[in-house]
Amino acid sequence: MKIFINNRYYSKRNAKVSIFDHGYLYGDGIYETMRSNNGVVFKIDEHITRLFRSAKMIYLDIRYSKQEIKSAVYRTLKINKLKNAYIRISFSRGIGEIGLDTALCKKPVFVIITNKFRQYPKEYYKNGVKIIIAETRRNHPKSLNPKIKSNNFLNNILAKIEAKKRNAFESIMLNLDGFIAEGTVSNIFIVKNGILMTPSLKCGILGGITRKYILESAKKMKIKVKEAKIRINELYAVDECFITNTSIGIMPVRSIDGRRINVKGEVIKRLIKLKFN
Ligand code: PDD
Repeated sequence: MKIFINNRYYSKRNAKVSIFDHGYLYGDGIYETMRSNNGVVFKIDEHITRLFRSAKMIYLDIRYSKQEIKSAVYRTLKINKLKNAYIRISFSRGIGEIGLDTALCKKPVFVIITNKFRQYPKEYYKNGVKIIIAETRRNHPKSLNPKIKSNNFLNNILAKIEAKKRNAFESIMLNLDGFIAEGTVSNIFIVKNGILMTPSLKCGILGGITRKYILESAKKMKIKVKEAKIRINELYAVDECFITNTSIGIMPVRSIDGRRINVKGEVIKRLIKLKFN
């Protein structure tokens, strides 16, 4: 397995960054997770556009063009002979003395890690997964905006610890106003009376590429969709529920905080056939 670091390739063993990298010291960096099917990276342009938006929001000049990043991703897949892959690209602020001043870092560190794509067990898709509502709230957009796909992931990690403690697959975080926001690494959808709903971007979430694809596809399939502010009591009373991201695609939910949900609902049955390539 070859890892790309600033235009060079290293074996997994030798792929190292400095302890003075501000990504390591402060979580100062951004990333994207993508997936390829049969050699084609799903929605690569949208991922790279989101990467640039994240970079802009943390005042990071990543010094590569969109095309250069795209070529580097495909080159890395080729070198690793991967067709169905998990791909993670990240840019850290770079190596610099200790201190928060971003000017201490002269050059960002660009990393691409690829791996064989590992599908979650089929039973998860068939029987659904357990999710819980976390005590940990999603960062407020005016503190660390969830729109930034940041390497600073402690907010999500704290919620993930709660999920593990309660034996759940995913934790859903509320925003500070008490509305449903998103999972630690996923967006959430619910179906009530035939209407597909998901928290609106105004709830302070990452605009998932999968979320957008599902909203667009559902509209084409004449499923009624609504981006809304959703409260916990509405979530507990849903007809169907699923979570989404690049790696899991569409994952049906079988229970929320122990309340059971139908995993064979009409809307999920139609959407789960969507292709991610
Ligand atoms: N996570 N919300 C959060 C907080 C996420 O971290 C992710 C993605 C999503 C879904 O976004 P998308 O559909 O573009 O994958 C929503 C990725 C998979 C990760 O952290 O690896």
